[in-house]
Order: sequence, then structure tokens, then C-alpha cells
Amino acid sequence: MELGVCYYPEHWPEDTWAPDAARMKALGLTWVRIGEFAWSALEPSPGELHFDWLDRAVDTLGSAGLKVVLGTPTATPPKWLVDAYPEILPVDAWGRLRGFGSRRHYCFNAESYRRETERIVTLLAERYGHHQAVQAWQTDNEYGHHGTARCYCQNCQRAFRGWLEERYGTIEALNEAWFTVFWSMCYSSFDEVDLPNLTVTEPHPSHSLDFYRFSSDSVVAYNRLQVKILREHSPGRLITHNTAIFFELYDQYKLAEDLDVLAWDNYPLGMLEESPLPDEVKACYLRSGHPDLVGFNHDLYRGVKGKPFWVMEQQPGQVNWAPSNPLPAPGVVRLWSHQAFAHGAEVVSYFRWRAAPGGQELMHAGLNLHDGRPDRASAEVSGVAEEIPNRDGEYRQAGVALLHDYENLWATTLQPHAQGWNYWGLLVGYYAALRSLGLDLDIVSPQRDLSGYKLAFAPALHLVDESLAGHLTRYVERGGHLVLGPRSGAKTLSNRVHAPIPGPLRGLAGVRIDHVDSLRPGVTGAVTIAESSYLYQTWADLLTPEGAEVLGTYQTDAYAGTAAVTQNTYGRGRCTVVGPWGTEAFHLNLFKRLLEQAGLGWLELPEGVRLNRLRRQGILQNFNSEAVATAHLPLELEDGTIAAHDVVFLKL
Ligand code: GAL
Ligand code: ZN
Repeated sequence: MELGVCYYPEHWPEDTWAPDAARMKALGLTWVRIGEFAWSALEPSPGELHFDWLDRAVDTLGSAGLKVVLGTPTATPPKWLVDAYPEILPVDAWGRLRGFGSRRHYCFNAESYRRETERIVTLLAERYGHHQAVQAWQTDNEYGHHGTARCYCQNCQRAFRGWLEERYGTIEALNEAWFTVFWSMCYSSFDEVDLPNLTVTEPHPSHSLDFYRFSSDSVVAYNRLQVKILREHSPGRLITHNTAIFFELYDQYKLAEDLDVLAWDNYPLGMLEESPLPDEVKACYLRSGHPDLVGFNHDLYRGVKGKPFWVMEQQPGQVNWAPSNPLPAPGVVRLWSHQAFAHGAEVVSYFRWRAAPGGQELMHAGLNLHDGRPDRASAEVSGVAEEIPNRDGEYRQAGVALLHDYENLWATTLQPHAQGWNYWGLLVGYYAALRSLGLDLDIVSPQRDLSGYKLAFAPALHLVDESLAGHLTRYVERGGHLVLGPRSGAKTLSNRVHAPIPGPLRGLAGVRIDHVDSLRPGVTGAVTIAESSYLYQTWADLLTPEGAEVLGTYQTDAYAGTAAVTQNTYGRGRCTVVGPWGTEAFHLNLFKRLLEQAGLGWLELPEGVRLNRLRRQGILQNFNSEAVATAHLPLELEDGTIAAHDVVFLKL
């Protein structure tokens, strides 16, 4: 486990670099990420290369004993480049051209930008590929951030038609897959298919889903272009990319296949402020962030590659971009750092070394103030650096899996059918319930080998074909327990409906779904499970048992007595179907029963307290602003309480 920092030598006078590097080292940092927005400083006009300053910056950091992550600068094409190739500017869904003046102003399918990318990445890779200090590369920066992964320009239209032709072969196959006879949308050639924007009412959902896939593939292909060059000129160095919080505009599983390690950028307070959580919850975690929002992202990005990840940017103080930007409470930067390691981070790198003197982010904190004096987090970071060498490094697999996938997110979001529908919200609800029972979770793609998991929860496993159904059936036959949440098995991969739902999962689930209910925010329904009553919201699948046992029944008047929760024994395992989107109490009660059936233990953690035992040495974390009693927990703890925003290492 190591610590790092993001640094912008081009923002500061050169005589500060060596003292900065020495202070980084003294603080216990080992990695420094630089360069990811430096294109105009490296090449102020076409072909006029100023790499000398970067040479000196890399040498200075290297001589101080720091390892460099060098970013490719493609998130910020310079003005001269945009003027020379105006076709690289992206177009948004409203048909507006997005301009120069911030960042990410390029289209992933612009040929001229791909050529310029190849040129600048090759120059950097040739020059620094074997530099001893450069131990890793970061491609670009937060692909698709600020809504730039889906572009509606002419380049993209052309490329989309080619992508469709490759996928379907013939236009008849596309018409059939999409069901274009609806509203007279049949096409007679691929050249007729436009992008799914600016339609009078909602565009065809199969058309949109394929456009989302295409856009995701465009990001993956663009990244691959960079990775190929870096591998060729910089053998043996790690290649990573830093993705964003709950980022959903491309398929992380596909992008990460080309990387050595996946990184993400963790801003717990900004994330909370921007989340749809109720105001009382936001008030409660105002200065610490919500443990499960952060934990979910850690587990997701560990699960994407099935291995430890990096936090490339860790919030060290106030951010500048949320609607409100509270100061973190004392101790919380330490808490976040240990939380990251406990969820499987290998490196935690703070953003940024010193607050920016100007520009869009001048209100964003760093480890140091604008004038260079250490800011509040500095002392905490040096404490973390002293604590981590004593921690045990090994990880194990969690006992429980949560199945997640981008195509299900896209498809259910395209046709939400209920105002409160939120794919992330449903998954985080499952996640939070299980985390509050002290469990570690692996968030994985449904295609993953699940044989190591006693329980696999699949909320909204919406798009299912025979091959996925076969994979899940084999998991259950061999003794696994699959839990299907609302909207599972509803559609084909081309976003047409299965008749009846849940399509190829019907035999495994032992139920059929003929009706679904959609509830306005604020309206709830009730379910009885083992004589107790629980509420649900937003969505309910009405289950007709076809061999499955009924565990819960709806009380809601329009369909009182209908099955709400069922369980089917299949092979050596089980498949449970949860029809409604339950509230917290609903999930807790049901999940405890399922955990017991699976022979998995659980313990009830106090609100805001979380436990991680993925590493041999577990940790307990308190996200509350008050101390919490822990004496009742069956853990080997030295004290009977955990202080506000504190971390306790369990005995080895
Ligand atoms: C990230 C981004 C950084 C910086 C940071 C501010 O999204 O990668 O460049 O903008 O946010 O919190
Ligand atoms: Zn485009």
C-alpha cells in the first residue's frame, strides 16, 4: 500500500520543484502523477516542442526518490489544435457544438484527433518510456466526464452506421432486432440510420441502447490507441486510467481489459452533495461522506478487473464543483485513506499537492494552501504513511457478490417507467443493507465466474439471453444461490421484451411475470413476509409461481395476495426472486434469512459504522461525528467505543 499526490509543475516556478519533491518524500508519498493537462505547455504552437521543462520536472521528482505516473495530455487539446481541426469539437444531444475553454472538448471518433493523439502520445512515450522515474502511465483523464462520451456529430453518425453494419450484417437483421415496424421506422439501408437525438418524442429504445454501446466502444477504441503506443515504447510500465464516481457513459469492464490497473477519483463530499440521498442523510454525513456511496465505488472498481485498484485522486479538503462544498471534519482524510485500502486500493493519491493559483479550480483544496504552507490534511497524510506499513497486504474474495453491468443500467434508464427509477440507487440499497450487516461484497459483472460465492445478488438483471441464463443456471445447479431483483429477465439484448418475463430465466426462477407496478415517489406498497409487514417503493414485479415457493405476498389492494418474493430450489442451489424495490427494513429482514440459508454469518453494525475484513487485518470505521459504542460487537476490539471519524484496526 502506497500514497501519492497529483502535481502540476507547470503551475509553479521551477525553483519550487525540488523543495516540493523533498517535502512529498518527507510526508511519506511515493508516487506523483503529472502532465495530464500539459499539452499547451509542451507544445505551445504546432510542432514547437518544449519538453525540456518536463525533462527537468521528471528528473527532479525521480532524484527525490519519487515514482512518476505520467499522464497523456489528450483531455485538453490546445487552442491551435482546435482551430486547425474544428471537426474534433463534440456535439451534444441538443445538437449544440461544444467549444474550447475548459476541457474534454473532443470527439472520440474524429480521425484528425486520433492522428494528433497518436502523435503526442508517441512523442511522450519515446521520450520517457524508459525513464527510470516514469513507472506508470495514465491515459488521458476521466474519459467522457462532463457528458462527453456520447457525441452527436457527423463523425459519430458515420462511425455509428459502420458499427451497426458490423453488428447486424444486413439491414433486415437490424429491423428485426429493433422491431422497427413500430411507428413506421423500418430502414432500407444502414445509411438511413441517424443518431437517436432530436427526435420529436423519445427515440426508439433499441436504437438508443445500440448508440450507447457504440459510444462506449468508441471510448474503448480510443483508449486502446493510446495503450498500444505506450506498450510499444514503454515496456514494463503500468498503464492505468482514472475513472469518475458512479461513471456510467462507457463500459468500465471493457475499457479495463486494456489496462494493467484501474484507478478512480474519490471525492466523498462532492459525491454526497450531488447524490439523490435525502437532506437528513446528507446533513448527517456532511463532513465525512456516506460510507456506502464511497465503499460501493471502491468495490465496483476493484470488481471491474477483479484485482486491487488505485485511487488516483483522493479528496484532501474542500472541492469546488458540488452545489455546496463543506470542509471535511478533522480526521476524515485519514478515515478515507484507510477505507480505500480496506476495500482493496493499492495506492491512494491525493488531489492535489497545492491549491491552484487560478483557473476553474482555484477554490479546490490541496495538501498545501495556495501559498505553499501545509493545509489541514497534510498532518493526517503523514500519519497514514506511518500506519500503512504495519497493515497486512493480502486480500481475499468476499463471500457475497453483487452483480452489476452497464447495459442493464442503460436499458432500464432509457425506459425508467417509474419516476424514481435509478439503477445505481437500487444497487446501493442492496449494497448498504449487506454492508450494515458487516459483510464484504464483490461487485462483479454477471458474466464472471460466480462459483466462489455462496450468494449472488442480481438487482435489475434486465437484459438476458440464453447464454447468460445458461451461465447463471449452472451456478445455481452447482449449489449457488442467485437472488434476482426487480426488472430482471425483462428484455432481450436488443432491448425487446421477453414474452413472458423473465424469458430464459423462467425455469430457473420458477416464476412468470405478467404485470409490473410503477409507483410515484412518496407512494409505498406493503408486503408480508413471515407475518411481518414491510414497505416497498417505485417498482413491483407481480410474480406468478410456476414451481417456486412463496416467501412474501403483496398486500397492496390492486393485487393483494399476489406473490412478491419467491424461492425456487434448482439443482443443488436456489433462486430467489424479489419482485418489489424494498425499503431498508425489507431488505434487512429478507437478506438475513438468505444469509442464514447460505450459512453466512452477519452482525448488526451501528448506523454509520462499517467493517471490512477483505484483508487479513480487518478494520472498523466510524463515519459519524460522534463516538459510537462497539462493546456489543462480536469483534476483538480493545475499547468499547470508536471515536468520531476514527479507524480501529482489528487484532490479527
Ligand atoms: C476530477 C478531475 C481533476 C479535478 C478534480 C477536482 O474529476 O479528474 O482533474 O478536476 O476532479 O475535484
Ligand atoms: Zn462525434
